[in-house]
Amino acid sequence: MSLKQAKVGVVGCGNISAIYLKNSRWLDILDIVAVADLIPERAQARAAEFNIPRACTVQELLADPEIEIVINLTIPNAHAEVALAALEAGKSVYNEKPLAITRTDGRRMLELAASRGLRVGCAPDTFLGAGLQTCRKLIEDGAIGEPVAVSAYMLCHGHESWHPDPEFYYKVGGGPMFDMGPYYLTALVSLIGPIRRVTGSARITFPERTITSQPKNGAKIKVDVPTHVAGVMDFENGAVGTLVTSFDVWGHHMPNIEIYGTEGSLGVPDPNGFGGPVLLRRAGEKEWSEAALTHIYAENSRGLGVADMAYGLRTGRPHRASGQLAYHVLDVMHAFHDASREGRHIDIASGYRPVPLPVGLQHGQLDE
Ligand SMILES: NC(=O)c1ccc[n+]([C@@H]2O[C@H](COP(=O)([O-])OP(=O)(O)OC[C@H]3O[C@@H](n4cnc5c(N)ncnc54)[C@H](O)[C@@H]3O)[C@@H](O)[C@H]2O)c1
Repeated sequence: MSLKQAKVGVVGCGNISAIYLKNSRWLDILDIVAVADLIPERAQARAAEFNIPRACTVQELLADPEIEIVINLTIPNAHAEVALAALEAGKSVYNEKPLAITRTDGRRMLELAASRGLRVGCAPDTFLGAGLQTCRKLIEDGAIGEPVAVSAYMLCHGHESWHPDPEFYYKVGGGPMFDMGPYYLTALVSLIGPIRRVTGSARITFPERTITSQPKNGAKIKVDVPTHVAGVMDFENGAVGTLVTSFDVWGHHMPNIEIYGTEGSLGVPDPNGFGGPVLLRRAGEKEWSEAALTHIYAENSRGLGVADMAYGLRTGRPHRASGQLAYHVLDVMHAFHDASREGRHIDIASGYRPVPLPVGLQHGQLDE
């Protein structure tokens, strides 16, 4: 790779930071030079574990002129505050999902970045993985004809049985749609294209949840957000999709994602992962068959999206896991809830479809 590395600072050294720090070792364009957290010990621990030169405060990190990109791995409630501060400090920012909790904060980020000539990127980047890129190539090569419809399901019974701090799943910015919708919707927008209108129905099934995990076993959570959200989407290309996300379901037989085309059906792998299997059943066939993966990055490659943004900064090309894409996803997630409350379809004005990755990339690199 001939491109100059980007110096990167990570803000937020919790759970998910480990995989970013680990993968930055092989994502050639990224050079993580500092980590910060509200809890200094967490930053110090991650710096020691991953050989990062510096653990510091958020203020020190943002004041460092050598840092070009901030990776924002804070909790959803802090995404906007940290991202806006990074942009104010003249740095491009890549956020964990969701982009922000409100549309207003999401728009402020995009506007500030545009006015400063900076970039905003956002997870998830699983759509850049081998599984979902293979699906996209199959669709674009005509394997299932024109996409007609999509079914997508994320059904479970919530996270209070295992997560040590599950309260946030039931507060504004949480719920099954905001938690998992970004994976599903980002995958669908990449595979099929932007969404032009949605409707939906949502409910709160259990107004109170009891934590059964440790250390808060027995504590109650007041549920503030819908925990079953059933959405219908019209894509710009005419395909009709259903997406159901739920924390109210004990068991089910539904697939993660299936795409139905005029010439066949595609079984899409879990959009919260990078690999396969990719299943195909063409018109007239009685069985599904597994398609060979056409792209690399089948293992957990979190960080690809920010590496792709760094390539964009160097070459001037757009980046794929972009703020515009994440804003479109945020807009759609809100619109399902708005539609349920207001009893109508909601038109979606936002929209962005990332270009696919090419085949034949070297591991650790993206296209220039
Ligand atoms: N944990 C996962 O498996 C997972 C998977 C995918 C995405 N995510 C996303 O990653 C993000 C972080 O999740 P996590 O599980 O690592 O959470 P976490 O609670 O383990 O870590 C978040 C860290 O951010 C720090 N923090 C919070 N506000 C801050 C601020 N204003 N300035 C500096 N530091 C701050 C906290 O002290 C904490 O160490 C979330 O947006 C989440 O949606 C998490």
